[in-house]
Amino acid sequence: MTKLNGINRIKIAVFISGKGSNLKNLIKFSHKKNSKFIISLIVSNNSTAKGLRYANIYKINKKVIKFRNNKKVEDLLIKRLKKSQIKIICLAGFMKILSKRFIQNFKGIILNIHPSLLPKYKGLNTHHKAILNKDKYSGCTVHFASPKLDSGKIILQKKIKIFKKDTPKTLASRILKQEHIIYPKALNKIISNL
Ligand code: GRF
Repeated sequence: MTKLNGINRIKIAVFISGKGSNLKNLIKFSHKKNSKFIISLIVSNNSTAKGLRYANIYKINKKVIKFRNNKKVEDLLIKRLKKSQIKIICLAGFMKILSKRFIQNFKGIILNIHPSLLPKYKGLNTHHKAILNKDKYSGCTVHFASPKLDSGKIILQKKIKIFKKDTPKTLASRILKQEHIIYPKALNKIISNL
């Protein structure tokens, strides 16, 4: 917890692997006057992740880690998270599965955003699957991370219509806009209940 402008703010780490639009959006929300959180650390398994540039732009600490289910590496990361007093990890386009051991040893909360209406379409290519199955709706889900892929308890979901002319690309871009709305909302909900 850190105090900024008279408000106690929870320290968050965001884990990314790619573009980082959800990261950028969470940073934007963290800069709001009454924000209850601050992004203190950005972690990536990918040294070339485009989203890492936000660490430089917004002067946030970053750490690139080769996640290979390596106990030593995991322990070092947990140590770092503890040292930085991180209470919540937000996975945002993070393409590695965290080990059961890591999830249990990190004593805080881990959230994930997934581009489908879970429990439908866990894993990759969610938009492609929804269109192929001629689904009428798709959407996105914020949920607690658990050792099983995309399976933890659901916190918030947003449903949107799939149009006949949709391609995985057009659908992904409409859903991403909704992700940017529900991720900060879900995070604030969790923080309010702490
Ligand atoms: C998002 O659709 C997220 O739900 C999925 O990967 C994408 C990441 O986008 N897990 P970004 O890196 O936040 O732009």
